[in-house]
Amino acid sequence: MPLGSFLHHPVVQAPMAGGASRPELAAAVCEAGGLGFLAGGYKSAEAVQEEVRALRALTPHPFGVNLFLPQNPSADPAAVALYGEHLAGEAAWYSTPLGDPNRGGDDEFHAKLTLLVRDPVPMVSFTFGCPTREMLDALREVGTVTAVTVTTPAEAVAAEAAGADVLCVQGAEAGGHQGTHRDDPGQDRAALGLLALLPQVREAVDLPLVAAGGIVRGCQIAAVMAAGADAAQLGTAFLPCPESGAHRLHKKALTDPSFTHTEPTRAFSGRPARGLVNRFMREHGPYAPAAYPQVHHLTAGLRRAAAAAGDAQGMALWAGQGHRLVREMPAGDLVRLLVDELHEAWTHPYGTGAREQEGPSGTTPGTTTPGTTTPVTTTPGAAATAAPTDGALG
Ligand SMILES: Cc1cc2nc3c(=O)[nH]c(=O)nc-3n(C[C@H](O)[C@H](O)[C@H](O)COP(=O)(O)O)c2cc1C
Repeated sequence: MPLGSFLHHPVVQAPMAGGASRPELAAAVCEAGGLGFLAGGYKSAEAVQEEVRALRALTPHPFGVNLFLPQNPSADPAAVALYGEHLAGEAAWYSTPLGDPNRGGDDEFHAKLTLLVRDPVPMVSFTFGCPTREMLDALREVGTVTAVTVTTPAEAVAAEAAGADVLCVQGAEAGGHQGTHRDDPGQDRAALGLLALLPQVREAVDLPLVAAGGIVRGCQIAAVMAAGADAAQLGTAFLPCPESGAHRLHKKALTDPSFTHTEPTRAFSGRPARGLVNRFMREHGPYAPAAYPQVHHLTAGLRRAAAAAGDAQGMALWAGQGHRLVREMPAGDLVRLLVDELHEAWTHPYGTGAREQEGPSGTTPGTTTPGTTTPVTTTPGAAATAAPTDGALG
């Protein structure tokens, strides 16, 4: 699969629905040798087409478009109505009505798919489910490479069987929604961390893997590549970039010490999504129903009103577990910095302790250091020599 032909560097900018993934962000990443993504979720097909046009005008390089699979309408209407009643105080506080939970629709999924078959883009990725073989074949026939987000080895096997070209392996650390194929409240505590998940997926399928979740430094890209990934997908790390359309309060909150940690919550959308813990999450998360996209529609106006009022405590501040380490800089510079850090990690893979022990020849001495028992000069070492040509991925 030609993932390598898309990437000069193994850095993918995650699609981020809700405003962050502007064409300018994707273009800056593509221009720097990474793979930029547009987020097709929560937009009309027409708006997606407009963003594709805008991105093509900014860069000749390959890019991706991400789509949300439509969800089965399995939510309990009574639970949604009750949640709405509990949110009445929020509606009064922000002087805005709750949205209609049954606005329904399929996020114009089929219209977007039709558009992308008619006017093909280099890559299309899917989340919240596994597309049918027919959908994946239709895209392949027009020359598009397809990717499917997976969060378990079983989802990976299903996506490979359906005919996906690439898998995006999303660990529990990831910011934003968990891309589970089925939202099962019984599995809420079952999400696997990326380094536990990745080798399991690597051993279950034979497809190129893009690893996502909590990655904000080049050394973590080295780690996931050592664990079987062909590239890393970063979302939170790109949120503070000037090209990102994330709200300024969202950008600021990522490193604000008053936001101590992230948690997954259903409070804003009805589906588990990881964000900085704020008042809204604390108050409503514990009893929010499993009802996506009904809860998303219900709270959309509240979140907009909170943002307009400058109140980060009522906004969905999606962020991965690495949020503390984000750096505010142009996206192209961030890609270059990540690649430098990746090469540094490949060259000196064992941290300062091992570096301090390094002899004048650059070899790692001693028999107790990892360098003597693990293939420093084979796997990471070979990677270090191969690293400058990391366009040969996948
Ligand atoms: C603000 C935000 C919005 C996101 N929106 C999408 C999306 O539209 N589609 C998607 O597949 N993933 C989405 N994600 C998840 C990312 O694809 C990716 O899994 C995640 O960002 C990786 O974790 P990290 O944020 O710690 O890097 C979003 C993540 C964030 C932070």
